[in-house]
Amino acid sequence: MTAELHTPKPSLFTDSDFWRDPYPFYEKLRSIDPVYKGTVLKYPGWYVTGYEEAAAILKDARFKNRIPFPESSAKYENLTHIQHDMLLYKNQSDHKRMRMIIGKEFTAKTAESLRPCIKETVHDLLDQIQNRKTADLVSEFAFPLASLIIAKILGVPKEERYQFRQWTADIIQAIDFTRSRKALVKASDTAGKLTAYFKDLIHKRKVQPREDLISKFIMQEQLSEEEVLAACILLAIAGHETTVNLISSGVLSLVKHPEQLSALKENPSLIEFAVEECLRYDSPTQLTARTASEDCEINGKIIKEGEQVYILLGAANRDPSIFDHPHKLDIERNPNPHLAFGKGAHFCAGASLARIEAQIAILTLLERMPKLRLAASELEYRKLFGFRSLTELPVVLG
Ligand code: HEM
Repeated sequence: MTAELHTPKPSLFTDSDFWRDPYPFYEKLRSIDPVYKGTVLKYPGWYVTGYEEAAAILKDARFKNRIPFPESSAKYENLTHIQHDMLLYKNQSDHKRMRMIIGKEFTAKTAESLRPCIKETVHDLLDQIQNRKTADLVSEFAFPLASLIIAKILGVPKEERYQFRQWTADIIQAIDFTRSRKALVKASDTAGKLTAYFKDLIHKRKVQPREDLISKFIMQEQLSEEEVLAACILLAIAGHETTVNLISSGVLSLVKHPEQLSALKENPSLIEFAVEECLRYDSPTQLTARTASEDCEINGKIIKEGEQVYILLGAANRDPSIFDHPHKLDIERNPNPHLAFGKGAHFCAGASLARIEAQIAILTLLERMPKLRLAASELEYRKLFGFRSLTELPVVLG
């Protein structure tokens, strides 16, 4: 009997349990096969839930990264156009060249140098909600923090940031499995707006360079104009989505585990381990995809040239063969070799920045608002297969 006959069929669009908690579904898939061939939400391919297999594929250059939908449709031209030159979807020599340039701007040292600015921004945001009874930590804390920091790095004027929340949401919706044609059309329109916005900003920085990343990218002879544009858009989107989700899901995980929360409050030096555990426990990016460029064997399975491979990072991060008690939040977990930032050539360029932002945000929040508790018993997640994203995190502050 082949694995396909056992296809688990959660009706993902109607099953609210999946959006609240996708982990039982992942476990079911892994129990059938950690490298499972089947179809989820119209997408046939190999679904990888095993840690070792996921890590092996991410490190293997025969599995190529590619734009998440067919490039041919004229309807989505703006969308395919911006993604065509993105670092994330480049391979081999183009990827190496672009990664060298972009990676240099996102080293651990650069992220460390932003610590004072991140601290000040966190305190400013908490000052604004300090005297309130309740707040939404997504829209009033995590989102503005991530947005202000990436805007500062890139050189996007503060007062122009307001558009980025919707723009990012539109693009994320279009790269997700749950996308509809309507979402693609909308995202293509948004991609047009993002392109126009950054073309204008790039032009301004060409005329008058500043101490920002856009000005630095423009001066790089090794980046084409299209690549500069695509890098700005990728960084703006990456900076506005996943870090927000790490901070909000991280706070939620801690509040839901009072003994872990107390341990962190008693010993704040555990914050680095705590953030790594939050990354593993409820990974902001749940899925990344590859295409096999030749026939490849993974754990006894032959993945044929051209076949799609979907790596479920959130599932790999709860693989019991690597993580003891994988469904337990343990802020002292060590070692914690999670794959939340990917692995190999495409390992997240913004990992150091995201880690520092989350460490400062979570620790300062707990220090300044030690009585913080949830204000709602049911929380809603955006209906995305590839990202873990709370719509709101309502809390009582005091
Ligand atoms: C908690 C926050 C974050 C998470 C969980 C995350 C996750 C990831 C993952 C899983 C990948 C690899 C995708 C793949 O292999 O297909 C990736 C790549 C990337 N991330 Fe992040 N990311 C985060 C924050 C950021 C931030 C703040 C930035 C920059 C501002 C950033 C920039 C990038 C870039 C440029 C890539 C592409 C790297 C390449 O292709 O070489 N990320 N991220």
